[in-house]
Amino acid sequence: MMERQGKHAMLPDNTHDDSARQTFVSGLKLHLANAVSPNLRKVYDARVRPGIRRDLGHEPVSRHEVRRAMTHDTVYQAWSSLQRTSQEMKQDTQSEIAVRQIDALAARAKRVHAAAQKGTLRTNPDIKIPRYMSALNIHCIPGGYHNELIEDDVLPGAVYDPGVFLYSMGRMGAFNEDMGATVLSYLRQNHPGLSPKRILDMGCSVGHSTIPYVEAFPKAEVHALDLSGPFVRYGHARAESMGKVVHFSQQNAEATDYPDGHFDLVVSHILMHETSHKALANIFRECQRVLRPGGLMVHVETPIFAGMDPYDQFILDWDTYNNNEPFWGPLKDLDLAQLAAKCGFDQKKCFAKVQPSAVGEAYAKGRTSLFQAGDFGGAGAWFLFGAEK
Ligand SMILES: C[S@@+](CC[C@H](N)C(=O)[O-])C[C@H]1O[C@@H](n2cnc3c(N)ncnc32)[C@H](O)[C@@H]1O
Repeated sequence: MMERQGKHAMLPDNTHDDSARQTFVSGLKLHLANAVSPNLRKVYDARVRPGIRRDLGHEPVSRHEVRRAMTHDTVYQAWSSLQRTSQEMKQDTQSEIAVRQIDALAARAKRVHAAAQKGTLRTNPDIKIPRYMSALNIHCIPGGYHNELIEDDVLPGAVYDPGVFLYSMGRMGAFNEDMGATVLSYLRQNHPGLSPKRILDMGCSVGHSTIPYVEAFPKAEVHALDLSGPFVRYGHARAESMGKVVHFSQQNAEATDYPDGHFDLVVSHILMHETSHKALANIFRECQRVLRPGGLMVHVETPIFAGMDPYDQFILDWDTYNNNEPFWGPLKDLDLAQLAAKCGFDQKKCFAKVQPSAVGEAYAKGRTSLFQAGDFGGAGAWFLFGAEK
């Protein structure tokens, strides 16, 4: 586990008090994960599950049955309230730190952009933010991912970047690179000869997962897109300051401006659960269009529910009901291979795989417990779905 986030030019500056607040939030989250949440399983086994059996006349078979019963339990209520509070405290802490520096951060990004040598940045002030993004403050970030308060704003990036490090308690690596690194492990194991000329990262946010592809494939042209202008501005300045060449653009992954067959590899990292089902179908169709024949699409997600005990499914579904993540659980009910087939892929060329987390593996020493960015104290694996065109 990383104690400190990796440095780059765009990270907001912390005062002593800012760091103390972050340390408190991280300590609270760790306490909830390690000391409080194990009690939930105990109360479930001791009193909630027997209650379900009594009321329904059978063992719980779905996460919804477990949720309906658990939400009446006082231990669960206390944990859930603290969990939500820790999330709000994290977002408020990061927002307050970044808002204070909003002008300085935008100016810093502009200086880096002006000096940029090889990577590029395209923003689109006319982009239409879809309702699935604009209707709520995604996972409690004040203003969401895309709100712009000043010209050339980078604020949401400056909230998100250190926020992810805090959320994952350092378990996604010094540069929050775990998901990209995990796909690369998968590619090394399953496509050892792969040497893509052009790579596209969809829903890149600030490029946490994008940079590992630049490092793994130094000859490839790496593109990264996101709906959020502040994210791609921040991501571009961050990448340039790290000496990494990426072509960022503000675009909707449902309909991009790239030519047909342009990419050898199209990836995304926890994009799928943040889009509506209709948008996801459009995104799969777009992947199919922009991939060359034989090209590969890989999407990373949090663990799927299939084969899991209803109680574990219920715990992993907490975000759907309590963290402004309406598509988190419903995504896991989708048949992704069937959807991909409807969007032009050959179902026989689809794959689904639980891949050990590249960063988590290094410190978890073989543990395979659940990984939900650390909230439940686990570490271990990401779910990968994809297809060859
Ligand atoms: C959880 S974040 C992704 C994290 C990022 N991929 C990483 O690895 O750190 C989800 C991102 O998807 C973006 N997004 C959602 N729908 C999108 C769409 N239709 N087109 C482009 N970006 C989208 C959001 O703006 C957000 O930045």
